[in-house]
Amino acid sequence: MRLGGVAGRSIEQTPDFGIDMENKSDKRQNVLYRIRKLVLRPFWQLRDIIYPPKYHPEKYWKARHRKHGFSLRGVGNWTRSNEENEEKYIRERAIFLDFCKKQGIDFKSVRILDVGCGTGFFAEAIRENGGTDYLGIDITDELLEGVAGKFPGFRFKKLDVAKDEMQGEFDLIIMISVAQHIVDEKRFSFAMQNIRRHLSENGTFIVTLWETDTYVHPNPHVVGRPVTYFQKEFEGYWFSEPERFGSKNLYAIRKYS
Ligand SMILES: C[S@@+](CC[C@H](N)C(=O)[O-])C[C@H]1O[C@@H](n2cnc3c(N)ncnc32)[C@H](O)[C@@H]1O
Repeated sequence: MRLGGVAGRSIEQTPDFGIDMENKSDKRQNVLYRIRKLVLRPFWQLRDIIYPPKYHPEKYWKARHRKHGFSLRGVGNWTRSNEENEEKYIRERAIFLDFCKKQGIDFKSVRILDVGCGTGFFAEAIRENGGTDYLGIDITDELLEGVAGKFPGFRFKKLDVAKDEMQGEFDLIIMISVAQHIVDEKRFSFAMQNIRRHLSENGTFIVTLWETDTYVHPNPHVVGRPVTYFQKEFEGYWFSEPERFGSKNLYAIRKYS
């Protein structure tokens, strides 16, 4: 049996997101999903009303990058070991490259923007696959100097996508494991419109969604949103089918299918 979760539908009605109930880790994810939905969500909602969450994104990410440096625990799951994070990233890199290929993207011929570039993990995947025109932005400059040293020819800039207007036009904009950290709805809308304005006419936006069937806010620095929140910001745009990406889903969004 295969289960998943998506906007506006109960878990039993949802489409196939590739969760294999024979697989132990997928089983675990499904149990966690049900606990979140039935037990934790009402508690979170009440808590957010009583104690509005405090999250200062720039300070939070500066401190997190300062603590973990280039270890993937900083950008990945800090509660897991470095080895576990490396394994997760290796799997996600393969999914990302395969997904880009399926979308007909040739890194060699596109202007690329990486929103929330972190340690430069996906910069490396792009460089190794022929990408040359790359700009990485991040809300904090904590790792940017080090990242720039690792990727000569690639450009990096401190920029908050949810607050600062970007410059230029891009044929490929990627945003991997970042959208769920833009917790404020006005900032989320600004970020999406910022990306939309700077995507070229035939450009593709590749983004991971921590996709829940309703809006959830388990921690001050994380929210889960249904895909409908993204569809509202990209009204009239084409959305690909979701591709499972760890606990998230990967989507391609563009003007034309
Ligand atoms: C979970 S990490 C993912 C990093 C990288 N994309 C990856 O997959 O390895 C989130 C990254 O987004 C950055 N970030 C968070 N909010 C941002 C914002 N509003 N604008 C730009 N970068 C942001 C953080 O500093 C951090 O580097």
